[in-house]
Amino acid sequence: DKGNYRHFMLKEINEQSEVVGRTFSHYVDFASGRVNLPVELPFKFQNLKRLSIVACGTAYYAGLVGKYWFEKIARLPVEIDIASEFRYREMPLEEGEAALFVSQSGETADTLASLRYCKAQKQHIISVVNVATSTIARESDVVIPTLAGPEIGVASTKAFTCQLSVLLCLAIAAGRARGTLSEDEEKSLVDSIISTPGLISETLKCEQDVEKLARDIAKSRDVLYLGRGTSYPLALEGALKLKELSYIHAEGYAAGELKHGPIALIDETLPVVVIAPSDSAYEKTVSNMQEVAARGGRIILLTDQTGSQASGLDNISSVVVPDCASVIAPIVYAIPIQLLAYHTAVLMGKDADQPRNLAKSVTVE
Ligand code: F6R
Repeated sequence: DKGNYRHFMLKEINEQSEVVGRTFSHYVDFASGRVNLPVELPFKFQNLKRLSIVACGTAYYAGLVGKYWFEKIARLPVEIDIASEFRYREMPLEEGEAALFVSQSGETADTLASLRYCKAQKQHIISVVNVATSTIARESDVVIPTLAGPEIGVASTKAFTCQLSVLLCLAIAAGRARGTLSEDEEKSLVDSIISTPGLISETLKCEQDVEKLARDIAKSRDVLYLGRGTSYPLALEGALKLKELSYIHAEGYAAGELKHGPIALIDETLPVVVIAPSDSAYEKTVSNMQEVAARGGRIILLTDQTGSQASGLDNISSVVVPDCASVIAPIVYAIPIQLLAYHTAVLMGKDADQPRNLAKSVTVE
């Protein structure tokens, strides 16, 4: 049931405050300000030398954000790969290490094959899945569920932000186990987690601004998305959402890679969506924006109040979201990139719930 929404996708975008809140409350004890996993993991984080994360598409981008969190918060090295490559790569794995699979459906063929490879290599298997009865869930040692509820829109939205929520809780649990996180630091991360549902609701108010920008995007042939740090996976996700829904060619790049090739694409016809919360990478991203502006590129800046005042660039379009702790920025910035892809598709008369050629669950190679 779509309720009052025109598409399931728009309904699911708007559900994110609720489902992210529900997912976090499953893993966080708000009273003590600590993360509290309700399941026993089959390994101890303090004994791991590294963690492998494997997934496809949007779930892979969630895993890529997870890598930044595990490495920064828990000082745990993460190997991450897309499942279709991982399954044939014959990656050497040491017995007793851990592999984490991220999948909304829990049925993705390549992800499942990678899981089976890891099992044969005697890895501990944990999975972040949305469908509790799925094959990946059944074949895992432990399932850390996302509580997004059924996702009907083919393009993943609420499953993505719930995957991020679970991965953040896991990274915090790992940080505590590995002694890289003090009690105060954990409390402050939990405070950021507590603020997230409210920030998502606040951010959803940018919809009209985003819709105006979508009119411009809808006329473009190509779009470039840029971001640094955890905004880099968001740039990849933004480009994927736009291409699958609107069929406009889009590419996501790490902002620092601009000079290594994609800058050649910049001209007056190319919109460049820059994801830049005012975090420690902000200044560097601004200098990349200046490079784009100097070549006539059309910038669409997704930033917060602080970042919008500090950009120093005129003649750019921006979407301003609330200031938030940088750790949860990937969850907050998912909202405008989803809305941008959605509205572009709708303006172009495309079916946002059922993009051509795509299946919700990819059970064959
Ligand atoms: C994009 C999208 C796909 C899926 C991918 C993995 O919007 O939905 O890229 O993320 O096919 O699917 P799951 O998570 O079911 O393994």
